[in-house]
Order: sequence, then structure tokens, then C-alpha cells
Amino acid sequence: TAKDIQLPEGYGLQAFDVLDSTNEEAKRLAAEKPTQHLWVQADQQSAGKGRRGREWISERGNLFCSLLWKADCDLKTASQLSFVSALAVRDVIADFLQADRRVLCKWPNDVLVDGKKVSGILLETAGEGLTDPEYVIIGIGINLSRHPEEALYPASNLAELGCPDLEPLPALQSLVASLDYWMTEWRQKGFDYIRRRWLERAKGQGEQIIIRLPDEEIHGRFIDLDVTGGLKVETESGIRVIAAGDVFFAPA
Ligand code: BTN
Repeated sequence: TAKDIQLPEGYGLQAFDVLDSTNEEAKRLAAEKPTQHLWVQADQQSAGKGRRGREWISERGNLFCSLLWKADCDLKTASQLSFVSALAVRDVIADFLQADRRVLCKWPNDVLVDGKKVSGILLETAGEGLTDPEYVIIGIGINLSRHPEEALYPASNLAELGCPDLEPLPALQSLVASLDYWMTEWRQKGFDYIRRRWLERAKGQGEQIIIRLPDEEIHGRFIDLDVTGGLKVETESGIRVIAAGDVFFAPA
């Protein structure tokens, strides 16, 4: 049960059967000004949210959780957590699967197994601070036993990839430990260290990609992750740094 989950010092956990969204619950909890970092988990979400205003289908059987993190940095620094949390999720997934599976990160914070999306991360902030957020909410979904058939990207789940019977709470236990590890690395070694670790595990560096923005489609070669976390691409008209968008890999 949730009581058996071991938490690092200074962290709490609230587990629910059903929520609208663990990110929304984290926001409500933020209004109560908790003094600890808080994990929120739900077995099911009735209004799960994805990036860019999309829906995250959240039926029982997968992991849905959010970390409400008491921030002590500015917004620019906090956005680095996108890559810190992607590395944490990547390790959790890689540890559950056979070593021959390719578990890679995809900008900004997806995790792919053999090219298919098995996890999504949605970062939000809460609290009044305009430039310095009081709280950062790191919402994480991992497909343990199901995945949507109709989605923007091809998807899969860990059961289908050879790790059956994985329950949400044991998966959460691994995630809690992994995110604590990567957040400590980040605080001790800085973003450039995280950036390099992320790039080592990223899909498609040096390859042609397509980035879809609301009113534009950019074709170019993925060359680097910029110091701000933007995606650096080499296009016909020069180098561009993309702050937000949907990345697609050109068919092989
Ligand atoms: C994406 O890839 O579009 C991000 C998906 C994030 C989904 C998780 S599930 C737990 C948390 N609560 C939400 O409503 N969304 C995030």
C-alpha cells in the first residue's frame, strides 16, 4: 500500500483511488502551502492532462502521479526539471525492461522504448511568484499495462514490452527513488551535466526531424540541446532554437 512506500527525507505522499488529475490535486494542495515536497498518486484520472492542452487518457492500470516540489529557484532554472525528470523516468523504465530494449529520451521530456512512447511528463507551476514559482508540479504518466491506440505518436506499455504485472505503487516507489537521485545530481553538478547525460540517451541526435508548431512546420537536423533546454536544429535558413513544439522523426 501507499504507506509502505519509502520516501526521502522532507517528502510526503497522498494516494487516491480517483482524481480529476494529479497535477490539479497538486495545485489544490499548493494553495494550502505545504512545507514538504508532496507526491500525489491516483489509480485513475477523470481529466488527465497532456502537454499542449491535450488529453491524457487515464484508465486504471497505469501510473499517474505528480510531485509538488517546493521550489527554491527561478522559473528558468525550474524548467530544467523537464530533463531531470525525463532522465529519472528513463532509468525506471530501463530498469524494469530487458537490457536489449532501447530506452531513449525524446525532446522535451518523453521516454520511448523501441521508438514508442511509454511515458509523458507535464510540468506546471503553482503559487503567486511571477518570476520565482513557489511550487513546481512535475506530472508523470507511465504506461504500465495499457496505452491509447489513437495518439499523436505511436505508443506502447511495459506489459506489452515484456514486463507484465507491474502495479502502480511499486512503479511509483522506483520513480520516487530515481527522481530523488537525479534531482541530487542536478543540484550538485548543474544543468550542463544533466544536459550531457540527457543527450547521451536522446533519440535522433544528428538526424533529420520535423517540429510541428501551431502555425509552422520546421524541418532540420537535431544537433544539440541548448543551455536553456531548447532544441537546437540546423535548418536551411540557419540554426534555430525551439522552445516548444512536437517533434517527429523522419521515416528511416
Ligand atoms: C504528455 O506527454 O503530453 C504529458 C502527459 C502527462 C500525464 C501525467 S499523468 C499524471 C499527471 N496528471 C495529469 O493530468 N497529467 C500528468
